[in-house]
Amino acid sequence: MAPSNRTEELAHGGIDDDVQPVTADVTNKNASSNETQKTSSVKFWDKSFSLLWQSIFNVFSAIGLYGMFWRPVYAYLALLHRKGVTPLRFMNYGFAAITEGDEKALAHKRAILKEEPEDEHTNINLYERTLALHPLHPHKLDGLDLLEISCGHGGGLQWIERAHPTLKSVRGMDMTIVDTMGGKVFQGNAYNVPLADESVDIVLNVESSHCYDDQPRFLRNCYRILRPGGYFLWTDIRPVGIFADFWINDPVDAGFELVGPILDWNEQIVKSLDQKSKLVFSKFSEHWYTRMFNFFWATFWGLPNTGMYRSIVDRKFLYRAAAWKKPAVQ
Ligand SMILES: C[S@@+](CC[C@H](N)C(=O)[O-])C[C@H]1O[C@@H](n2cnc3c(N)ncnc32)[C@H](O)[C@@H]1O
Repeated sequence: MAPSNRTEELAHGGIDDDVQPVTADVTNKNASSNETQKTSSVKFWDKSFSLLWQSIFNVFSAIGLYGMFWRPVYAYLALLHRKGVTPLRFMNYGFAAITEGDEKALAHKRAILKEEPEDEHTNINLYERTLALHPLHPHKLDGLDLLEISCGHGGGLQWIERAHPTLKSVRGMDMTIVDTMGGKVFQGNAYNVPLADESVDIVLNVESSHCYDDQPRFLRNCYRILRPGGYFLWTDIRPVGIFADFWINDPVDAGFELVGPILDWNEQIVKSLDQKSKLVFSKFSEHWYTRMFNFFWATFWGLPNTGMYRSIVDRKFLYRAAAWKKPAVQ
């Protein structure tokens, strides 16, 4: 049986101290989201969402092909990006600060964040907040080698290069590449990273691991390529009861030590979706060939009042973040 949220939190000595209860804010969010205009196809999709999701997951994972579900989706997004139709640098839900810890983690880069496109601020925040799980963030990351597994269209890497220029190297890997960024980004599978053992200091993984079939194998790869004392910084979303083991047992089985609490970011993600998901969704409605999949994009981008959005608000999906360390002495 999948552990409840509380069981997971207790298993790790509690989640972040400054996590707020969800209830009060959610009322306002629901009120504002009622204003959202929905097409009939979106309503239909919304009603079927949970059932469909579970069915897809069950069928594909039963035959060991869960990752196959996502491949065409990201190949399609990459194609749109390459053609300049919907050139999105980021494919995550974004993060809006709520707690003092969030504010502190994001504060030092606010000045340069202002120079980035405003509609990407919450996407960038998600990267910076995840990087801030590293104990040497923000000022002592000098000379470290960072690899992002599943870097998508590279927006996060571009931000990290800009905001943390003293890192020795910033590289990315993804199954689907849109831009090699001068050789810094390469193609590869999360289960089989084409890098030498003990060759990086930080592995970053942002809102991507839900796509992988074999999570333990992915974690073993992260462990293998990290130098002793290196960090695996992770954030992602999971339906309750699915993959719950990921943040409990799998990293430890791979050899990692959990550093700090497992953070609960549902509220921060909902706040970000309230700010930006309509904008992203509208970009997908500009052309007939993207508009015909509106029923899917609405929930994919977490538009308010879709099944995905409500599942995060109602905590049927959990958005988590944590840092694990490869022990310095093996
Ligand atoms: C939700 S997107 C997130 C991308 C990026 N981290 C961001 O925040 O913009 C998930 C990414 O995971 C990649 N992906 C899915 N399965 C993968 C695999 N087995 N190996 C490597 N990358 C994979 C997809 O191609 C996609 O770019």
